[in-house]
Amino acid sequence: MQALRDERYYIYSRGLFKIYKVADLEVVALRGLDLEIEQGEIVAIVGASGSGKTTLLNTLAGYDTPSAGQAWVGQRNLLEMKARDAVHYRREEVGFIWQQPSRNLLPYLNAQENVELPLLLLNRSRSERQSRSTELLELVGLGDRLKHRPEMLSGGEQQRVAIAVSLANKPPLLLADEPTGELDTQTASDILEVFKDVNQEYGTTIVMVTHDLDVIREIPRVVTIKDGKTSLELVHIPSFRKGEDDVSREFVLVDGSGRLQIPQEYLNQLNIRQRVYVEFQDNKVVVWPEDHSYE
Ligand SMILES: Nc1ncnc2c1ncn2[C@@H]1O[C@H](COP(=O)(O)OP(=O)(O)OP(=O)(O)O)[C@@H](O)[C@H]1O
Ligand SMILES: [Mg+2]
Repeated sequence: MQALRDERYYIYSRGLFKIYKVADLEVVALRGLDLEIEQGEIVAIVGASGSGKTTLLNTLAGYDTPSAGQAWVGQRNLLEMKARDAVHYRREEVGFIWQQPSRNLLPYLNAQENVELPLLLLNRSRSERQSRSTELLELVGLGDRLKHRPEMLSGGEQQRVAIAVSLANKPPLLLADEPTGELDTQTASDILEVFKDVNQEYGTTIVMVTHDLDVIREIPRVVTIKDGKTSLELVHIPSFRKGEDDVSREFVLVDGSGRLQIPQEYLNQLNIRQRVYVEFQDNKVVVWPEDHSYE
């Protein structure tokens, strides 16, 4: 099959599969996932435990190779990326924040040295490393903690250093796996503000996994993953009229073959099982339960 990229999107996946093999067992972690994200968007990914959120981020970051389907980030075809290209891709184009603060930072380096490390790998000069790391640590509100090692920082501060590390090489893409998962409400909201600033200032595309309702409310687009596929999408439409509240609309996603998922509560209420009757009416498509009388 010839892979085709849709150039309107920075991240574009169609029918993406990721199958992990453990001993004789196969786990299908992504099961035909479709996703489009434009450059400069901030998108939240939500979904039950085991639904494939981390797998999606790892795949987009080039840590995991997809098993089938299509996945593009910019000009890069992730299905055909060689291991060597993946290393360059991760170093130069992707910032990644792991959920566990300890995984993001090296314990024996101070905050500034941690932020400088990705720049050292890119052979940046000493003065450039210093000015960039100071700038970033100031951006995340840690200008007065440059020489502190991770153990001397609180969990929230460590996570803010991790954000600074992930942004060191000015990546066009920032992937964050529950970056606020272990933080209190105030720190979580501070971190979200940092993301928004970074998005505004550098035009960074941000994809973050979160369970945090306060965070979800603040993000313009929330994509739900269910069983390794995108299923619902919540789009936050800000109101520009004075005194009117913003509106949130929940959309059910339609895949490339026209399949969509009817919410479980509707299926239960109408006792819908295997078949439905679908009818085009004026400007809508109506789905009837099988035992509906059609007169
Ligand atoms: N390296 C791996 N090897 C084998 N199976 C894996 C691996 N990583 C994930 N899986 C499996 O793939 C599925 C999706 O896992 P994933 O970590 O993407 O879920 P998640 O949505 O991030 O869940 P959580 O909210 O708990 O973090 C799970 O069934 C998991 O057991
Ligand atoms: Mg996960």
